[in-house]
Parts: sequence; C-alpha cells; structure tokens
Amino acid sequence: SSDDGIILKIPKVELHVHIEGTLTPQLRWKLAQRHGVKPHFGNGNHEFKTLEDLERAYDDVISSAQLPLSGQSDHLTTFFQAYYSGFQFLRTKRDFSDLAMDYFSRAAAMNVRYCEPFFDPQGHTSRGVSWADMMDGFKEAQEKAANELNIQSSWIMCFLRDQSPESAMDHYKAALKYKDMIVGIGLDSNEHDRPPCLFEELFTLARRDGFKLTAHCDVGVKDTHCHIHQVAATIAGSGLDRIDHGLNAAEDAMLIDLIRHRGLAMTICPWAYLRRETYGSIAERLRVLVDAGVKVCIASDSPVYMDDSWIIHNMLLAKRMGGFTDSEMCKMVRHSVEMSWAKPAVKLAIM
Ligand code: HPA
Ligand code: ZN
Repeated sequence: SSDDGIILKIPKVELHVHIEGTLTPQLRWKLAQRHGVKPHFGNGNHEFKTLEDLERAYDDVISSAQLPLSGQSDHLTTFFQAYYSGFQFLRTKRDFSDLAMDYFSRAAAMNVRYCEPFFDPQGHTSRGVSWADMMDGFKEAQEKAANELNIQSSWIMCFLRDQSPESAMDHYKAALKYKDMIVGIGLDSNEHDRPPCLFEELFTLARRDGFKLTAHCDVGVKDTHCHIHQVAATIAGSGLDRIDHGLNAAEDAMLIDLIRHRGLAMTICPWAYLRRETYGSIAERLRVLVDAGVKVCIASDSPVYMDDSWIIHNMLLAKRMGGFTDSEMCKMVRHSVEMSWAKPAVKLAIM
C-alpha cells in the first residue's frame, strides 16, 4: 500500500533495538553449527533437527505472546527464555560482528540511517566472553556498516536490572575502555520489583562521565507509574535523558505533564506491547501521549521474538493504531532524529 511506500522510503533513526533481539533463527542455526553445539531454545529438552523446526520455535514465542492477559507472566518468561537462550551462541569476535552486521544490513535496507542499538554485556561476560571479543566484534561491524551501507551507529550499554547494582558497577568500570563506542547507559531485563532507583549510584556516575542515560519502563509492570516517575524526575539529580517504553504514563496526567515539561522523549515499540495488552488499549494510550505533545518515536525492541516486526512494521502498526496521518508519522521520525544522541553533523545529514 502507499503507507508502506512512505514508511519504507523516509530516512529513519532506530533508538530502541536490542542487538541480541535481532538473532534470527538462521543466524542462531549457523552459529550453533560453527561451534558444534545443538541449536536449542532454552525451553527444556527441545532439540531441533532442522532449521525449519527452529523457525517454528521462534513462531511459538510469538503466538503464545498474543494470548489474552491471563497467564501473562508465563508469556513474558517465554520471551525472556527465547531472548536469553540465544546469548550462548555468541562466543567469538566473529559471532558478535556477524550478529551486528546482520542487523545493520537489514536496517540499511529499511533506510535506517542512524541507530543506537542496546547490548547486554552481563549476559556475555558471565559466560566467559571477553570484553575485547564482544566490543571488537561490534566495532568491526559498525565500521563496515558506516563505510559500506551508509548507516551510522552508537551503542547503548544496558545493565540487567534483575542482577545486582554491584555487578552493574563492575561492568560499567570495565567498559570505560570502550567509551568511544558507547553513547549511553540503559537498564533492561525483568522489571518486576526492580525500580530504577536501585541503580542511582551508577546513573549518577555515568552522567558525570558524560554518558546519556535511559531506562526501560516496560508496559504493564507492577509499580510502573512509580518507576516512570523516578526516570522522569528523580534519578541522577532530576531524572534521565530518555524513557524506553513508558506507555503507562498516558494514564496519569501528572506524569504526562512532567514528561512534557522536561522535554523528555520516549521510545515506543507497539508490537512489544501486544504480548501483554490489547490492541485497543495500546492504541488509545499512544494517541493520548502524541496528542498531549509528548515527544514520541517508534522503535522495534526485539524484532525476531516479536513476530519478526522490525522498525517499519512497528511504524505501520503505530500508524494504524493511532490513525496517524503521514505528516504525524514524519513528525515522529523528526522526533527520533532530535532525541537521538548522534553528533550534530550526523543529525543534519539525516534531516
Ligand atoms: N524489556 C526488558 N528487557 C528486555 C526487553 C524488553 O522488552 N527486550 C530485551 N530485553
Ligand atoms: Zn527494550
């Protein structure tokens, strides 16, 4: 349709994609073969005889995620199982480079011109992967993508909030060697009973060191309004620099005011919310935020575990959900450029 045309053509910025959430079944299969291990999926005894079987397992994450709200925590666990089980195939510099290059190629084909992918270092160092293999692999792909695909990037290092603040701090210090590659610090993984304020010391230090700061406020999490309030107004002095997700802010007029007055921007990944919320309730809240004048951009989260929904699919879904016009969609793309942490010259080149 014509919608697809405009959304595909416009130069884009991707600000919420987990690089580990772009591990396709094809690449998982290839890496398993490379290392002589079984391409399992982290859910019990499943063994996959063929690539097609593995592809079907990816499809199952997706379909189970779209069941009604009852049993929602089971389905969230299923997402995390699928997501984290992919980590163990990432071992060498070449693996990390292949993963990132696979994403950059796809992104470039969708006319993404700049992106800030997340990575989860704790999920790799805990398995004995060296910082050098991980970061040199990412860097190799990043440079190749810039030179050959005309796509610029900068990394956001996420900490696993269900692990200790001490572990996060140790990783933070180890990563300072790679500071040139890393533009921001984020917070992801299971948010249940893990408020952002647990990482106050880390965020304060990271801001002093010149990093930009963001944190996930996942949709439908217990205490979500409290978590959003911390991110918007209290952590590291007066709040962080961006909010990842945070759609539940739409239910609270005070939070909306706060976010708008601070000029805070939000990365919204509509497909990700379908695993926990109804289409109508997502659509309504997205509309509320946009109509309130909050800076929102559309992003994709973990595309391979969410129905193979990349940035263009999320933009199409958002457009339909909100009934947005082409010019409203373009405005959201402009927001993504403005709220990005790209250097001014890179921003100018995209706009
Ligand atoms: N939420 C929290 N952690 C994550 C997600 C998410 O949607 N995707 C990858 N890590
Ligand atoms: Zn995310």
